[in-house]
Amino acid sequence: MCGIVGYLGNQQAYDILIKGLYRLEYRGYDSAGIALVNNNGNLSVYKTKGKVADLEKAVAGKDISGTVGIAHTRWATHGEPNDANAHPHYSENHKLAIIHNGIIENYQALKTELINRGYHFQSDTDTEVAVQLVQYIMDSHSCPLEDAVPLALNSIVGAYAIVIVDKTHPDRLIAARKGSPLIIGIGKDEYLVGSDATPIVEYTKKVIYLGEEQIAFMTKGEEIRITDLRSVPQTAEIKKLEVNLSQIEKGGYPHFMLKEIFEQPETLRASLLGRLNPELGQVKLSGIIDNEKRFLKAKRIIICACGTSWHAGLIGKYIIEELTRIPVEVEYSSEFRYRNPVIRNDDIVIAISQSGETADTLAAIQLAKEAGAFLFGICNVVGSSIPRATDSGCYTHVGPEIGVASTKAFTAQVTVLFLLAICIAELKGTTSPERCAELIRELQNIPDKIARILVHDKQIEELAKVFTYARNFLYLGRGYNYPIALEGALKLKEISYIHAEGCPAAEMKHGTIALIDEEMPVVVIAPRRGHYDKIRNNIQEIKARKGKIISIVTEGDEDVRKISDYVFEIPDTEECFAPILSVIPLQLLAYHVAIAKGRDVDQPRNLAKSVTVE
Ligand code: AGP
Ligand code: GLU
Repeated sequence: MCGIVGYLGNQQAYDILIKGLYRLEYRGYDSAGIALVNNNGNLSVYKTKGKVADLEKAVAGKDISGTVGIAHTRWATHGEPNDANAHPHYSENHKLAIIHNGIIENYQALKTELINRGYHFQSDTDTEVAVQLVQYIMDSHSCPLEDAVPLALNSIVGAYAIVIVDKTHPDRLIAARKGSPLIIGIGKDEYLVGSDATPIVEYTKKVIYLGEEQIAFMTKGEEIRITDLRSVPQTAEIKKLEVNLSQIEKGGYPHFMLKEIFEQPETLRASLLGRLNPELGQVKLSGIIDNEKRFLKAKRIIICACGTSWHAGLIGKYIIEELTRIPVEVEYSSEFRYRNPVIRNDDIVIAISQSGETADTLAAIQLAKEAGAFLFGICNVVGSSIPRATDSGCYTHVGPEIGVASTKAFTAQVTVLFLLAICIAELKGTTSPERCAELIRELQNIPDKIARILVHDKQIEELAKVFTYARNFLYLGRGYNYPIALEGALKLKEISYIHAEGCPAAEMKHGTIALIDEEMPVVVIAPRRGHYDKIRNNIQEIKARKGKIISIVTEGDEDVRKISDYVFEIPDTEECFAPILSVIPLQLLAYHVAIAKGRDVDQPRNLAKSVTVE
């Protein structure tokens, strides 16, 4: 998920690589490192937890000569952020070094095999397996690096962008990708490699976007050679970079929040990666399967979280109760920690947190630990405090979320909760295997369905302009979409500063309805499956009071369209998965209203990305 830079040419590689790492800092990362083939022929690796500036300090006085090298900013997925886990990683004989973005799903099996063959591992990462495997193939097949890389990649399951440097051939670099982007810049007698164009743009505008499952062989003074994973030559299409630096940093988007909203088809796939077995219709969450007994004896699940993560927890309650029949309570961490709650030693406490550092959630789980409950974390930041404090857990794997308003982390939290519910249901046998398989199949369609919603962004942008006058917004939903009403309202409040309230649609009659007049925009989440007739009645109630109705409906729905002022369509899906789709237009609505009002969406006033104080 994080940053890659590579250089091969006639200039001093170190300066270009470090500058490239600084350029990639906007992506967020936890450690940094560099490998250089020095002028004396040594392959030196320098790396450290922390910032690029810390790496610069760490190399002071060391040999940083050399005209070929690779550098990396890591966003940990396997193994906590520390010096040993930072990239690059050496092969056993220290002749090769690798940097990698992505996740190697079958790393454990490969690692065990390599250990049995006498290989020693210096890190807990999945990445190190790749470079060890390449060396193993070179040694056991007596083949050159060029042949070993495709063979190794054919054994690797997962997603990767990798670059390998070879001490014995300091005039070469090899790069490959599957699922993670990689760009190669072609300069005058030099090659640059980047996980995006930021480290390259300053040096050349001629680039190759390496294709899916392609390998690039770069040799000084020679034309680049590209093959697929079966070593079949591929044509290298050279493109012209038409963008400036600030545009690329945000992937061409004006704000991180919009970039992160649009990343969701991809981040959702990353959250599912390696966790589904569609043939068997099973979910594999090792955090649960390894603790099967605890989950089987659980009488109750308590979810603790704050803000958007708490909204994800509410959806978790619905799905876990539906599929596993285990009662679930969802608690604001800040209330739970101070109200002397009843916690039993057969309870499971799930802490949900993007940052993994939220002070109240951390305190809530400490309390639960003292009471003997089993602690399970759902976090995005690997190695952060909550995953370290819990007994087991599951990462969301969406990469750094930089916009203060949480978007892609939320949909990933909800996805992981779905996986968790299905996994427990399979263990307990509370939902039929056929139903579990059906849910798994549909879950795999969700990323494409999100992409179909995002195509209509312009429609929401236009809609948003109509409502910049509003001083209040009301959001209504029922069942699985009630938490989305809360989330839609929170998103709008956070970044547009318009007051908004989310409410279960039926609860409106008990008070909130008094607010409705011709000035009040009311967003109603009304998909076809689940309480459809009931929510249609609620829309009529708003209409009778002249509220302005913006409905989120299932594609093709004409009935709700007739009674709404504005309509936005989402694809049909299982009732329980609708929240992942219905939240997308609400994220976009909040974003565009905030932009139309001239707000700073990425850093809204008074808010912090990570709330480390209570
Ligand atoms: C979300 O948009 C907010 N910025 C906020 O509510 C956030 O979800 C909350 O502070 C919890 O953070 P966490 O997920 O990192 O624990
Ligand atoms: N999975 C690798 C690791 O945890 C790469 C992470 C990244 O993409 O930065 O080291």
